[in-house]
Amino acid sequence: MISDKMNAALNEQINKEMYSAFLYMSMSSHSNGMGLKGFASWFMVQYHEEMFHAMKLYEYIHSQGGQVTLLPIAQPPAEFDSALDMFTKTLAHEQTVTQSINHLMDLAIEEKDHATRIFLQWYVTEQVEEEENDNEIIDQLRLIDGNPQGLMMLDRELGQRPANVPVDFSKGVAAGGEE
Ligand code: FEO
Repeated sequence: MISDKMNAALNEQINKEMYSAFLYMSMSSHSNGMGLKGFASWFMVQYHEEMFHAMKLYEYIHSQGGQVTLLPIAQPPAEFDSALDMFTKTLAHEQTVTQSINHLMDLAIEEKDHATRIFLQWYVTEQVEEEENDNEIIDQLRLIDGNPQGLMMLDRELGQRPANVPVDFSKGVAAGGEE
């Protein structure tokens, strides 16, 4: 069982995860337009990860007898200056998501809601991983400094990122195998 306040906060987090998916889908499209197919693929993998994050929350709310209320998803930006600009914005966005997860965790602790605290632990770990990945790519892009050959090499590398989350949620988030 979760409180009404926690239920509402988790619903808001679903919205943030779905906005993240939209943002990375937009970056994927922009990468395609730049001829960076590997970047486009990386961002589309990230899109699926964000939908998975949203669906885990969706299922958790149901498992606790709560109610999922879907909120409007804001329009993401469509234009970016460069690959570095996209990853700088990705990291900045993930830092806001980390803050949001931390606030949820604070609420779970305040409410002595141990089940939600344990559930959110997965997201705390995930955010550390995401920020680390983004920082690594930003470092590489800074080293490349716009050099087309370096960019093409990184593009090939990012294109290798496998999709390791389920994409069909009709049987639940665990049905397709978790990452
Ligand atoms: Fe759902 Fe990128 O954190």
